[in-house]
Amino acid sequence: MKGKVSIIGAGMTGSTTAHWLAEREIADLVLVDIVEGMPQGKALDLQEALPIIGKDVTVVGSNDYEATSGSDIVVITAGLPRKPGMSREDLLAKNANIVANVTRETLKYSPEAIFIVLTNPLDTMAYLTMKVGNLPPHRVVGQAGILDSARMRAFVAMETGVSVENIHCYVLGGHGDSMVPLTRHSNIAGVPLRDYIPEERLAAIVERTRKGGGEIVSLLKTGSAYYAPAAALAQMVDAILKDKHLIVPAAAYMQGEYGLSDIFFGVPVMLGRKGVEKIIEYDLDDDERAALEKSAEAVRQSIATLHELMDLS
Ligand code: APR
Repeated sequence: MKGKVSIIGAGMTGSTTAHWLAEREIADLVLVDIVEGMPQGKALDLQEALPIIGKDVTVVGSNDYEATSGSDIVVITAGLPRKPGMSREDLLAKNANIVANVTRETLKYSPEAIFIVLTNPLDTMAYLTMKVGNLPPHRVVGQAGILDSARMRAFVAMETGVSVENIHCYVLGGHGDSMVPLTRHSNIAGVPLRDYIPEERLAAIVERTRKGGGEIVSLLKTGSAYYAPAAALAQMVDAILKDKHLIVPAAAYMQGEYGLSDIFFGVPVMLGRKGVEKIIEYDLDDDERAALEKSAEAVRQSIATLHELMDLS
Protein backbone atom coordinates (compact mmCIF):
# COMPACT_ATOMS: atom_id res chain seq x y z
CA MET A 1 0.00 0.00 0.00
CA LYS A 2 1.27 3.46 -0.92
CA GLY A 3 1.74 5.98 1.84
CA LYS A 4 1.16 9.71 1.86
CA VAL A 5 4.09 12.06 2.35
CA SER A 6 3.84 15.83 2.67
CA ILE A 7 6.90 17.94 2.05
CA ILE A 8 6.68 21.41 3.54
CA GLY A 9 8.96 23.83 1.75
CA ALA A 10 8.93 23.18 -2.01
CA GLY A 11 12.29 24.84 -2.60
CA MET A 12 15.37 23.09 -3.95
CA THR A 13 15.57 20.34 -1.34
CA GLY A 14 11.82 19.85 -0.94
CA SER A 15 11.12 19.49 -4.65
CA THR A 16 14.19 17.31 -5.22
CA THR A 17 13.00 15.05 -2.39
CA ALA A 18 9.67 14.73 -4.20
CA HIS A 19 11.59 13.77 -7.34
CA TRP A 20 13.61 11.04 -5.60
CA LEU A 21 10.46 9.77 -3.84
CA ALA A 22 8.40 9.67 -7.04
CA GLU A 23 11.14 7.49 -8.55
CA ARG A 24 10.71 5.10 -5.62
CA GLU A 25 6.92 4.94 -6.20
CA ILE A 26 6.18 4.45 -2.51
CA ALA A 27 3.91 7.38 -1.68
CA ASP A 28 1.49 9.95 -2.97
CA LEU A 29 3.15 13.31 -2.50
CA VAL A 30 2.08 16.78 -1.42
CA LEU A 31 4.29 19.85 -1.76
CA VAL A 32 3.40 22.91 0.34
CA ASP A 33 5.06 26.31 0.23
CA ILE A 34 4.17 29.89 1.06
CA VAL A 35 5.05 31.07 -2.45
CA GLU A 36 1.84 31.15 -4.47
CA GLY A 37 1.73 28.92 -7.54
CA MET A 38 5.25 27.52 -7.06
CA PRO A 39 4.36 24.22 -5.33
CA GLN A 40 1.44 23.75 -7.74
CA GLY A 41 3.74 24.33 -10.73
CA LYS A 42 6.47 22.00 -9.49
CA ALA A 43 3.95 19.29 -8.57
CA LEU A 44 2.30 19.45 -11.98
CA ASP A 45 5.65 19.35 -13.76
CA LEU A 46 6.68 16.28 -11.76
CA GLN A 47 3.28 14.63 -12.32
CA GLU A 48 3.78 15.15 -16.05
CA ALA A 49 7.18 13.41 -15.87
CA LEU A 50 5.71 10.24 -14.37
CA PRO A 51 4.31 8.74 -17.59
CA ILE A 52 7.84 8.92 -18.99
CA ILE A 53 9.47 7.16 -16.06
CA GLY A 54 6.49 4.86 -15.53
CA LYS A 55 5.60 5.62 -11.94
CA ASP A 56 2.06 5.80 -10.60
CA VAL A 57 1.85 8.26 -7.72
CA THR A 58 -0.03 11.51 -7.37
CA VAL A 59 1.82 14.76 -6.79
CA VAL A 60 -0.17 17.72 -5.47
CA GLY A 61 1.07 21.24 -4.83
CA SER A 62 -0.65 23.64 -2.47
CA ASN A 63 -0.35 26.74 -0.31
CA ASP A 64 -2.90 25.23 2.03
CA TYR A 65 -2.27 22.65 4.74
CA GLU A 66 -5.59 20.94 4.17
CA ALA A 67 -3.98 19.15 1.21
CA THR A 68 -1.64 17.39 3.66
CA SER A 69 -4.50 15.71 5.50
CA GLY A 70 -3.82 12.13 6.60
CA SER A 71 -0.07 12.14 5.87
CA ASP A 72 2.00 9.24 7.19
CA ILE A 73 5.13 11.37 7.09
CA VAL A 74 5.74 15.12 7.12
CA VAL A 75 9.11 16.30 5.83
CA ILE A 76 10.05 19.83 6.90
CA THR A 77 12.43 21.67 4.57
CA ALA A 78 10.75 25.09 4.93
CA GLY A 79 13.09 27.80 6.02
CA LEU A 80 15.55 30.46 5.12
CA PRO A 81 19.17 29.90 4.29
CA ARG A 82 21.82 31.83 6.16
CA LYS A 83 22.54 35.02 4.20
CA PRO A 84 25.70 37.12 4.36
CA GLY A 85 25.71 39.23 7.53
CA MET A 86 23.14 37.01 9.25
CA SER A 87 24.26 35.52 12.54
CA ARG A 88 23.45 31.95 13.56
CA GLU A 89 21.07 33.40 16.16
CA ASP A 90 19.22 35.43 13.49
CA LEU A 91 18.80 32.32 11.38
CA LEU A 92 17.68 30.35 14.41
CA ALA A 93 14.99 32.90 15.29
CA LYS A 94 13.64 33.10 11.75
CA ASN A 95 13.58 29.36 11.09
CA ALA A 96 12.20 28.59 14.56
CA ASN A 97 9.08 30.63 13.82
CA ILE A 98 8.67 28.90 10.46
CA VAL A 99 9.22 25.37 11.81
CA ALA A 100 6.94 25.93 14.83
CA ASN A 101 4.17 27.12 12.51
CA VAL A 102 4.67 24.23 10.07
CA THR A 103 4.56 21.71 12.93
CA ARG A 104 1.29 23.10 14.32
CA GLU A 105 -0.41 23.36 10.93
CA THR A 106 0.54 19.87 9.73
CA LEU A 107 -0.43 18.24 13.02
CA LYS A 108 -3.94 19.67 12.69
CA TYR A 109 -4.44 17.53 9.60
CA SER A 110 -2.11 14.60 10.29
CA PRO A 111 -2.13 13.95 14.04
CA GLU A 112 -0.36 10.59 13.68
CA ALA A 113 2.40 11.68 11.29
CA ILE A 114 6.10 11.03 11.75
CA PHE A 115 8.21 14.16 11.26
CA ILE A 116 11.52 14.28 9.41
CA VAL A 117 13.18 17.65 9.88
CA LEU A 118 15.85 19.14 7.62
CA THR A 119 15.67 22.89 8.24
CA ASN A 120 18.78 24.29 9.92
CA PRO A 121 20.00 24.48 12.62
CA LEU A 122 18.87 20.92 12.24
CA ASP A 123 19.27 19.44 15.70
CA THR A 124 17.57 22.44 17.29
CA MET A 125 14.71 22.49 14.77
CA ALA A 126 14.00 18.78 15.39
CA TYR A 127 13.90 19.53 19.13
CA LEU A 128 11.50 22.40 18.44
CA THR A 129 9.17 20.18 16.40
CA MET A 130 9.03 17.63 19.22
CA LYS A 131 8.31 20.33 21.84
CA VAL A 132 5.80 22.40 19.86
CA GLY A 133 3.98 19.29 18.65
CA ASN A 134 4.14 17.66 22.09
CA LEU A 135 5.26 14.54 20.23
CA PRO A 136 6.80 11.35 21.58
CA PRO A 137 10.52 11.35 20.69
CA HIS A 138 10.24 8.36 18.35
CA ARG A 139 8.03 10.41 15.99
CA VAL A 140 10.65 13.08 15.26
CA VAL A 141 13.94 12.54 13.49
CA GLY A 142 16.37 14.96 11.88
CA GLN A 143 18.27 14.42 8.66
CA ALA A 144 21.97 15.15 8.74
CA GLY A 145 23.98 11.99 9.38
CA ILE A 146 23.06 10.16 6.17
CA LEU A 147 24.18 13.21 4.20
CA ASP A 148 27.42 13.74 6.11
CA SER A 149 28.21 10.01 5.92
CA ALA A 150 27.37 9.91 2.20
CA ARG A 151 29.80 12.75 1.58
CA MET A 152 32.53 10.81 3.37
CA ARG A 153 31.61 7.67 1.40
CA ALA A 154 31.82 9.61 -1.87
CA PHE A 155 35.26 10.98 -0.97
CA VAL A 156 36.49 7.49 0.01
CA ALA A 157 35.20 6.12 -3.31
CA MET A 158 37.01 8.89 -5.21
CA GLU A 159 40.20 8.10 -3.28
CA THR A 160 40.11 4.31 -3.67
CA GLY A 161 38.13 3.61 -6.83
CA VAL A 162 36.00 1.08 -4.90
CA SER A 163 32.23 0.95 -5.41
CA VAL A 164 30.27 3.26 -3.14
CA GLU A 165 28.20 0.20 -2.22
CA ASN A 166 31.21 -1.33 -0.47
CA ILE A 167 31.99 1.80 1.49
CA HIS A 168 30.42 2.24 4.92
CA CYS A 169 31.08 5.43 6.85
CA TYR A 170 29.51 6.77 10.00
CA VAL A 171 29.45 10.44 10.85
CA LEU A 172 27.83 11.22 14.19
CA GLY A 173 27.28 14.32 16.33
CA GLY A 174 25.63 17.65 15.69
CA HIS A 175 25.22 18.87 12.13
CA GLY A 176 27.94 21.48 11.92
CA ASP A 177 31.66 22.02 12.07
CA SER A 178 31.92 19.80 15.15
CA MET A 179 30.47 16.67 13.50
CA VAL A 180 32.37 13.48 14.30
CA PRO A 181 33.42 11.21 11.38
CA LEU A 182 34.12 7.86 13.07
CA THR A 183 37.02 6.45 11.06
CA ARG A 184 37.43 3.46 13.43
CA HIS A 185 33.88 2.26 12.70
CA SER A 186 34.04 2.98 8.97
CA ASN A 187 35.12 0.30 6.52
CA ILE A 188 35.48 -0.85 2.93
CA ALA A 189 33.85 -4.26 2.50
CA GLY A 190 34.71 -5.05 6.13
CA VAL A 191 38.31 -3.79 5.96
CA PRO A 192 38.77 -0.89 8.41
CA LEU A 193 39.24 2.42 6.63
CA ARG A 194 42.40 3.05 8.63
CA ASP A 195 43.99 -0.11 7.12
CA TYR A 196 43.03 0.87 3.58
CA ILE A 197 43.87 4.55 3.31
CA PRO A 198 47.14 6.23 4.43
CA GLU A 199 46.71 8.32 7.58
CA GLU A 200 47.23 11.73 6.02
CA ARG A 201 44.85 10.97 3.13
CA LEU A 202 42.22 9.80 5.59
CA ALA A 203 42.69 12.97 7.65
CA ALA A 204 42.10 15.01 4.50
CA ILE A 205 38.89 13.06 3.77
CA VAL A 206 37.66 13.69 7.31
CA GLU A 207 38.35 17.40 6.95
CA ARG A 208 36.64 17.60 3.57
CA THR A 209 33.62 15.79 5.03
CA ARG A 210 33.36 18.31 7.88
CA LYS A 211 33.41 21.15 5.38
CA GLY A 212 31.29 19.34 2.77
CA GLY A 213 28.31 21.69 3.01
CA GLY A 214 30.50 24.80 2.73
CA GLU A 215 32.33 23.39 -0.29
CA ILE A 216 29.05 23.15 -2.22
CA VAL A 217 27.89 26.61 -1.05
CA SER A 218 31.07 28.25 -2.25
CA LEU A 219 30.79 26.53 -5.65
CA LEU A 220 27.11 27.34 -6.15
CA LYS A 221 27.51 30.96 -4.92
CA THR A 222 23.75 31.13 -4.28
CA GLY A 223 21.98 28.40 -2.35
CA SER A 224 23.24 25.20 -0.80
CA ALA A 225 23.33 21.48 -1.55
CA TYR A 226 20.09 19.75 -2.41
CA TYR A 227 20.61 16.53 -4.41
CA ALA A 228 22.33 14.67 -1.60
CA PRO A 229 20.22 16.10 1.26
CA ALA A 230 17.08 15.20 -0.68
CA ALA A 231 18.34 11.68 -1.44
CA ALA A 232 18.96 11.25 2.30
CA LEU A 233 15.41 12.37 3.10
CA ALA A 234 14.01 9.93 0.52
CA GLN A 235 15.98 7.06 2.05
CA MET A 236 14.56 7.89 5.48
CA VAL A 237 10.99 8.06 4.15
CA ASP A 238 11.50 4.73 2.38
CA ALA A 239 12.85 3.05 5.54
CA ILE A 240 9.89 4.27 7.60
CA LEU A 241 7.12 3.47 5.12
CA LYS A 242 8.54 0.01 4.37
CA ASP A 243 9.22 -0.67 8.06
CA LYS A 244 12.76 -1.67 7.11
CA HIS A 245 14.46 -1.40 10.50
CA LEU A 246 17.26 0.35 8.65
CA ILE A 247 20.17 1.61 10.73
CA VAL A 248 21.38 5.02 9.59
CA PRO A 249 22.95 8.00 11.29
CA ALA A 250 20.27 10.61 12.04
CA ALA A 251 19.37 13.16 14.71
CA ALA A 252 17.31 11.61 17.51
CA TYR A 253 16.24 12.73 20.96
CA MET A 254 18.79 11.66 23.56
CA GLN A 255 17.55 10.17 26.82
CA GLY A 256 20.79 9.00 28.38
CA GLU A 257 22.31 7.34 25.32
CA TYR A 258 25.97 8.25 24.87
CA GLY A 259 25.68 9.98 28.26
CA LEU A 260 23.56 12.74 26.66
CA SER A 261 20.07 13.93 27.43
CA ASP A 262 17.47 16.47 26.33
CA ILE A 263 19.07 17.29 22.98
CA PHE A 264 18.66 16.01 19.43
CA PHE A 265 21.95 14.57 18.27
CA GLY A 266 23.33 12.57 15.38
CA VAL A 267 23.62 8.90 16.32
CA PRO A 268 22.94 5.57 14.60
CA VAL A 269 19.19 4.98 14.74
CA MET A 270 16.95 2.17 13.54
CA LEU A 271 14.16 3.50 11.32
CA GLY A 272 10.88 1.65 10.86
CA ARG A 273 7.15 2.24 10.77
CA LYS A 274 7.14 3.71 14.28
CA GLY A 275 9.85 6.21 13.35
CA VAL A 276 12.96 5.98 15.52
CA GLU A 277 12.70 2.41 16.82
CA LYS A 278 16.03 2.23 18.55
CA ILE A 279 19.24 4.15 19.15
CA ILE A 280 22.36 2.07 18.63
CA GLU A 281 25.26 2.76 20.97
CA TYR A 282 28.75 2.27 19.60
CA ASP A 283 31.62 1.36 21.81
CA LEU A 284 33.65 4.60 21.76
CA ASP A 285 37.20 5.30 22.84
CA ASP A 286 38.18 8.35 24.89
CA ASP A 287 39.00 10.56 21.88
CA GLU A 288 35.72 9.72 20.16
CA ARG A 289 33.75 10.41 23.34
CA ALA A 290 35.51 13.75 23.81
CA ALA A 291 34.74 14.77 20.21
CA LEU A 292 31.07 13.84 20.64
CA GLU A 293 30.88 15.75 23.92
CA LYS A 294 32.33 18.85 22.23
CA SER A 295 29.76 18.53 19.46
CA ALA A 296 26.96 18.04 22.00
CA GLU A 297 27.96 21.26 23.74
CA ALA A 298 27.45 23.20 20.49
CA VAL A 299 23.94 21.72 20.14
CA ARG A 300 23.17 22.45 23.82
CA GLN A 301 24.06 26.11 23.29
CA SER A 302 21.82 26.36 20.24
CA ILE A 303 18.90 24.79 22.13
CA ALA A 304 19.53 27.20 25.03
CA THR A 305 19.23 30.09 22.57
CA LEU A 306 15.96 28.61 21.33
CA HIS A 307 14.61 28.54 24.90
CA GLU A 308 15.54 32.23 25.28
CA LEU A 309 13.54 33.02 22.12
CA MET A 310 10.48 30.88 22.77
CA ASP A 311 8.51 29.57 25.70
CA LEU A 312 8.58 25.82 25.11
CA SER A 313 7.50 24.65 28.53
N1 APR B 1 5.92 27.76 5.08
C1 APR B 1 6.19 27.02 3.98
N2 APR B 1 7.29 27.18 3.23
C2 APR B 1 8.15 28.13 3.58
C3 APR B 1 7.94 28.95 4.71
C4 APR B 1 6.78 28.73 5.47
N3 APR B 1 6.49 29.46 6.55
N4 APR B 1 8.99 29.81 4.80
C5 APR B 1 9.82 29.54 3.78
N5 APR B 1 9.32 28.54 3.04
C6 APR B 1 9.85 27.94 1.82
C7 APR B 1 10.46 28.95 0.88
O1 APR B 1 9.48 29.65 0.14
C8 APR B 1 11.32 28.05 -0.01
O2 APR B 1 10.63 27.64 -1.19
O3 APR B 1 10.92 27.06 2.11
C9 APR B 1 11.61 26.84 0.89
C10 APR B 1 13.08 26.62 1.17
O4 APR B 1 13.68 26.28 -0.02
P1 APR B 1 15.10 26.83 -0.51
O5 APR B 1 15.21 28.27 -0.16
O6 APR B 1 15.29 26.41 -1.92
O7 APR B 1 16.13 26.09 0.44
P2 APR B 1 16.69 24.61 0.35
O8 APR B 1 17.98 24.63 -0.37
O9 APR B 1 15.62 23.69 -0.12
O10 APR B 1 17.01 24.32 1.87
C11 APR B 1 15.97 24.15 2.81
O11 APR B 1 17.37 23.43 4.55
O12 APR B 1 19.62 23.76 4.60
C12 APR B 1 18.43 23.96 5.27
O13 APR B 1 17.72 25.70 6.68
C13 APR B 1 18.21 25.44 5.41
O14 APR B 1 16.33 26.76 4.82
C14 APR B 1 17.18 25.75 4.37
C15 APR B 1 16.45 24.43 4.19
